[in-house]
Amino acid sequence: MLYYLQTIPGLGPLAWQEVQQRLSTSDTESLSDSASIRLVPRRNDIVLLRYAGNPRALLNLRVSEDVFAVTVRAFHVVADERGLRQMYAATRETRAVGDALTAWKKALNTRRVPATFRMVVRAVGSHRFTRRQIGQAVADAIKTGWPGRWRQVDEDADVEIWATLLEQELLCGLRLSGADMRQRGTKTHLPAALRPALAAAMVMLTEPAPDDVFLDPLAGTGTLLVERAAAGPFRQLYGSDINTDAVRAMLVNTRKIHGHITCERWDARQLPLPDASVDKIAMNMPFGKQVAPDADLPALYREILAEAQRVLRPGGRLVALVSDARMLNTARTAAARQLRPGQRQRIEVLGMGVTICVFDR
Ligand SMILES: C[S@@+](CC[C@H](N)C(=O)[O-])C[C@H]1O[C@@H](n2cnc3c(N)ncnc32)[C@H](O)[C@@H]1O
Repeated sequence: MLYYLQTIPGLGPLAWQEVQQRLSTSDTESLSDSASIRLVPRRNDIVLLRYAGNPRALLNLRVSEDVFAVTVRAFHVVADERGLRQMYAATRETRAVGDALTAWKKALNTRRVPATFRMVVRAVGSHRFTRRQIGQAVADAIKTGWPGRWRQVDEDADVEIWATLLEQELLCGLRLSGADMRQRGTKTHLPAALRPALAAAMVMLTEPAPDDVFLDPLAGTGTLLVERAAAGPFRQLYGSDINTDAVRAMLVNTRKIHGHITCERWDARQLPLPDASVDKIAMNMPFGKQVAPDADLPALYREILAEAQRVLRPGGRLVALVSDARMLNTARTAAARQLRPGQRQRIEVLGMGVTICVFDR
């Protein structure tokens, strides 16, 4: 059965890494050895994968934001009017609808038969037809060709069908995930809060281990702490922030975490923790005026990194998210040379480029 996962632009390879780590041991036979990644610029990375297990397992992935069962694939779609006819024909003739509906029922644990659908259409490349026309072609084919009776609606649909035309390739999917997969039930938001899927990717890069002492010294609303707790057992979680409102939100958002967790109002430049007492640090560096109005960011970065280096044990790992990776590296060179730079991953969040930087002590 063919599925696709959707995540934040730049996170596709890490979403696939999570699939391999979390699903391959229990379902080795059912996963293909390789995924293929498609890019919808500024919107999503799409990871196509073959999976024979229960789709509910896919809904538990954390680096992905949405899961779809593939209903139509068409290649060599031409850029003029004939392309619309090709997409109509491919949608009418697809044989994947039955399996996709079975996957939908399993994912939602329902016996219901969906009767209404909402179209979401995206197009990448230059074509001589509009997104609206693509949606029309696909919707007409669904109404006339798919088993059962289908009615297109704009709201409160039983299912969503997403049609994405990537240059010459059409990919249609039946959405299995709801908004909760993306939002993870976060209770309290502040402006600079991380998207949970990005936090999950950062946590994955810390290589979680059961005896981890994990720290986020810029924890804000606690998104990284929630994702660390979801990633598996730990010895101790520390979350801190200089802002009282943030600590309050952090306490609310981390309330359901079982195990040793400490949320405090601390200054990341002066943590009340002993030298070499932390195994893993993940943090989202302050950036822009929104978070630090008159801050001298280069100085702040130097002091935060020096303190991270002090509390991190030799062999420990730091994963930092920054909008200005060069500024972070300058700070490291000046104040935290024991932090050795490793993997970097460039991501795009709401049109803004950010980088995940990994350092080992
Ligand atoms: C980009 S936000 C982190 C958001 C967080 N990851 C979340 O999901 O909500 C940076 C945070 O650093 C905090 N901060 C700025 N300077 C700090 C300092 N010296 N010590 C501790 N926290 C600080 C801000 O209050 C803000 O909450």
